[in-house]
Formats: sequence, structure tokens, C-alpha cells
Amino acid sequence: MSQYPDAPGGGSVTPNLDFAGTTPYEDYVQADVLTHLQHPLSDDPGEMVFLVTTQVMELWFTVLVHEWETATQALRSDDLPVAMAALKRSVRELEALNASWKPLGQLTPAQFNSYRGALGEGSGFQSAMYRRMEFLLGEKSASMLVPHRGAPRVHAELEKALQEPSLYDEVLRLLARRGYAVPAAVLGRDVTQKYEPSPEVEAIWTELYAGDQDNDLVRLGEALTDVGELVWRWRNDHLVATRRAMGAKAGTGGSAGVAWLEKRAAKNVFPELWTARSHV
Ligand code: HEM
Repeated sequence: MSQYPDAPGGGSVTPNLDFAGTTPYEDYVQADVLTHLQHPLSDDPGEMVFLVTTQVMELWFTVLVHEWETATQALRSDDLPVAMAALKRSVRELEALNASWKPLGQLTPAQFNSYRGALGEGSGFQSAMYRRMEFLLGEKSASMLVPHRGAPRVHAELEKALQEPSLYDEVLRLLARRGYAVPAAVLGRDVTQKYEPSPEVEAIWTELYAGDQDNDLVRLGEALTDVGELVWRWRNDHLVATRRAMGAKAGTGGSAGVAWLEKRAAKNVFPELWTARSHV
């Protein structure tokens, strides 16, 4: 018999209701912490979904960094199955991340203006987890650490990510270990700098893509292409949402706004995986 006969469902097979302290669910999920981190800065009822969508995206960024770090480490130790599993999970996670644009995709300028002023100089440009994602994708930039000088833990994590080889660096090192002629200048490049495309690397992907489609390196290339495509989609969904919400006005972070985002959104990560296709 349930200790609480009038509990929903009744009988002996009802869930346990008796916990001395916090529930095991709470201990694991920390839902009470998570659901009390929402502090809108205006009285506008529409600000809540803006804030929560941003927080949800930050959580997805955190998962993606975890997956791509897992893949990077696995590639370093030639463990392609573990790397592929992490990359494939990350593709589904990127789809979920991109789906979270839905609630913000059609904001009108008047709706956005209702709380925009309250954001002050706050901007997603200052997202440290987004920078860690970009660094893992090969888009390194020491100047992106500058906004975080006042936050030692965040700064240290970003500094470490800047110094470490990116996911793509480890892919190219794996190609070299498999006998492909990756130039020494690419293998020994300064990994704190943005990755620049190489004609020799493009030729390697061209050769791979022209060959056996079941080759595990082609499958790796395709998983990376899926990631690249979905990152491009995130940037473009962000661009369109911004264009709808604020037209050509300057950003809260101090950039030219849409004009600046257009340049960022035009680029592709893992560049040779895109350009090689023209030569197959
Ligand atoms: C519709 C609402 C949004 C508008 C109007 C908007 C606007 C902008 C603008 C104008 C910039 C350029 C930097 C600046 O001057 O501020 C920017 C950058 C950025 N925003 Fe948003 N944003 C929106 C929603 C979001 C959300 C929900 C996220 C999720 C975290 C986000 C993340 C970012 C990131 C990561 C950057 C930096 C991009 C880069 O460095 O290439 N934004 N945003």
C-alpha cells in the first residue's frame, strides 16, 4: 500500500513521494537553480522568451563544446568510432539548437524595442561559450578574449581553448598519419591563429571524395560537413531574425549590426570540405 492512499493513481505502484530532503531529481537536474536564473530587466512580457531562448542556446553551446572536445581528443588517439559518435550526436544537437530560433524568428522592431533598451551594451557577441565553439571549429582569435578580462574562470577557459589544436587541426593530423600529404606548414601552424584554407588540403579532400564513398575518412568528411552546414544555418537564422527585429540599426554590442553579421554569416567552417566539391 502507498503511504499516501489518496495520492494520484493510488495503490502500491505509484511513484515514491517520500523524500527526507530534496528529491533525487532535483539533486541531479538542479531544476530549482535552473528555473530561478531568469531575471528580466524590463516589464515587457515578451522579454522572458528572449532571455530563456538565449539561456537555452547557451546550454546547447555547452553540449556542443563537450561533443567537439570529445571528438577532438578521440581523433588525437586515432579513435575514429568515438569521434564519429560525438560528431553525429552534435549534428542532432545543432538541429535542436537551430529549432530554438522559432520563438524569436518573427520579432517586430516594436516588440524588440520594448526591452532592447534594458539590455544596455549586452550582446551575444560577449558569449564565451559561443567563442569556444568557434575556436574548436578553427576560427581562433585572441582579440575575442579581451571582453572576458574581468572574469578569470571564463578567460582561463578561453585562453586554454585558444592554445589547443582545433577539431579540424586534429582531423588534418589524422589525415597525415593515414599517409595523406598534409603540408608541414599546415601541421605545424600556429594553432592560436584562424585556420586558413590550403590548396594541398583541398586536393586531399578532392581525392578522398572522388574515391570509395564508404571510406571512413569520407564519412568523417560528411559528418564535419553536416556540422559546418548547421553552423552556417545558425548564423543565417540569427542574421534573418536580427534583420526582422532591428533592420539596419547598430547592435547593442557596438557593431554595425546586420552589415557586420552578414560578413560573419557568409563564411564556412572547414573551408576545403566545401571548395573540394568543385573538383570532384
Ligand atoms: C532577435 C534577437 C536578436 C538580435 C536582434 C540580435 C542581434 C545581434 C547583433 C546586432 C549582433 C552583432 C554584435 C552587436 O553589435 O551586438 C549579435 C551578435 C551575436 N548574437 Fe545576437 N541577436 C539576437 C538574438 C540572439 C540570441 C538568442 C543569441 C543566443 C545566444 C545570440 C547570440 C549572438 C552571438 C553569439 C553573437 C556574436 C556573433 C559573432 O561573433 O559572429 N543572439 N546579435
